[in-house]
Amino acid sequence: MSSRPEKIETFIRIAHGLFQSEKLPDAGRAVATKVFERLQTPSDDGVRHHTRYPAQDWLDTALAPYVDSTSDFGSAARALKALEPDLGWSRRTTGQHGGENWIESHVHGMICGPGGAESRYDLQLGFTVMAPHTRYPDHSHPPEEAYVLLSAGEFRQNDGDWLDPGIGGGIHNVRNNLHAMRAGATPFFAMWCLLV
Ligand SMILES: [Fe+2]
Repeated sequence: MSSRPEKIETFIRIAHGLFQSEKLPDAGRAVATKVFERLQTPSDDGVRHHTRYPAQDWLDTALAPYVDSTSDFGSAARALKALEPDLGWSRRTTGQHGGENWIESHVHGMICGPGGAESRYDLQLGFTVMAPHTRYPDHSHPPEEAYVLLSAGEFRQNDGDWLDPGIGGGIHNVRNNLHAMRAGATPFFAMWCLLV
């Protein structure tokens, strides 16, 4: 029987739907399927990364287009706002080709994963918020990963062109794939998930 708080369960259910969108590449949906299968079993060691960072102030602006919406994005935005006090926060500080002020201008929120609202180490379900005009550095990591974009914004993989998957669309990164993201004139908001 699940001992997971209802608001986490609600967010997971809504996020699961977003990661199964046909706007995602097949491989992205496949990674997400594995993540959400594993999420059927709650696991929380109680660690919380509650340090605050300046870019958290962009979260409300990023979600503003959805909070009153009856769409799945609206449900996701409201579920995320309900979880905000419980989220874990972190920032990257290394990487190539980050734009001016990129460290101050971004933050990662962890829902399920180390230090998150459900702190665990076998997967990560979280999101990135960036201030307008932020260019996140090129980075890579061993686990493959799926992203869903919920704002304007663009992604780049390896030395390819910048691409905009559209709101509700996403990308899939194979293992160790070099990738980056950037905001336009409005805040960037994307969810990601991976298996560790
Ligand atoms: Fe990534």
